[in-house]
Amino acid sequence: MTSELAGLIARRIALAGPISLADFMAEALGHPRLGYYRRAAPLGAAGDFTTAPEISQMFGELVGAWLADRWQAMGRPAPVRLVELGPGRGTLMADALRATRGVAGFHAAIDLHLVETNEPLRAAQRAALSSVRPTWHERFDGVPAGPLLLVANEFFDALPVRQFHRTPRGWVERMVGLAADGSLRLALAPGITPFSALLGDAPPGAEAEISEAGRSLAAAIGARIGRDGGWALIVDYGVPEAGRAASLQAVRGHRGADILDRPGETDLSAHVDFTALAAAAGVPCFGPVSQGDFLRRLGIERRAAVLKERAPAVQRRAIDAALARLIGPDQMGTLFRVLAVGDTRSAAPAGFAEPPSDAT
Ligand SMILES: C[S@@+](CC[C@H](N)C(=O)[O-])C[C@H]1O[C@@H](n2cnc3c(N)ncnc32)[C@H](O)[C@@H]1O
Repeated sequence: MTSELAGLIARRIALAGPISLADFMAEALGHPRLGYYRRAAPLGAAGDFTTAPEISQMFGELVGAWLADRWQAMGRPAPVRLVELGPGRGTLMADALRATRGVAGFHAAIDLHLVETNEPLRAAQRAALSSVRPTWHERFDGVPAGPLLLVANEFFDALPVRQFHRTPRGWVERMVGLAADGSLRLALAPGITPFSALLGDAPPGAEAEISEAGRSLAAAIGARIGRDGGWALIVDYGVPEAGRAASLQAVRGHRGADILDRPGETDLSAHVDFTALAAAAGVPCFGPVSQGDFLRRLGIERRAAVLKERAPAVQRRAIDAALARLIGPDQMGTLFRVLAVGDTRSAAPAGFAEPPSDAT
């Protein structure tokens, strides 16, 4: 099966030669008319995937508490630029704001900025966050200067990656070219890649990925925090070996698909290389820790118990199921990881170290 965008990409390759997987991913997700993240809402049961804030209100509530805590640690600046990258339906931010209504002065200080390219999702965010009048941007660079509090859940995994394969001759890049019948196909570039110095040594057969977009965004966030102060919380897919494997995957209708199949109609994502992001940020970072450890340390089990106290039996079971999905080691608990980018070398923020024991 093919798509209109596949035809446009094939024409570009016929005219100008094979493109990198990063260029293919940028087109497939970001093409102004046909890109996956430009079209009607992809999230939720009817879409291609579900995210942590859509699984339970507890996720956004605890992230909100974390952001409010960091705002206090920063000396309660007003205004503070509260930024979310890729806010989806606005669920995380709505839950975060509801949970922090009681934090004296916090809401009055917030100047909310949302980085989002998808028009249908912007409309959903407008509806979910109507009381706080956000400002939207196409890119992080558009957010005005000033102390920063930033959150990004499942954003970096959608940024384009280049992919490399180690041959006996050295590292070569995996490209998207054309098969004899004119369809898209993967092929290795004939020459050694200039990225070899970044990739280091590895045995033949090894795979690697680099997200230049992810690294430059992390550098921009780090530079902003270094200059104006602030904190960023990045939550995403990312096993420890991310960057040293070929992780790019395609999902359509909650099922795996071929990477090149129906670009524009298929979600593409890659594991996030948190080590590379932390290095690019150039300011102190904490983590990555697993999402399970992060949420448990912030008290998700206590929060679930409180919600269950007031809930009927069927809802109590749903809360237990959501909790297991968010922190279970066989579910999102270990597959997702959390990195904090900060402006201080003081103690680790909440969630990044075991809290003091309750024992007195
Ligand atoms: C996987 S969804 C995650 C949504 C939300 N954070 C959540 O957890 O439910 C990715 C989000 O990032 C947005 N997005 C993806 N690529 C983007 C880009 N290059 N620039 C701005 N927004 C982008 C999508 O439209 C969507 O809102």
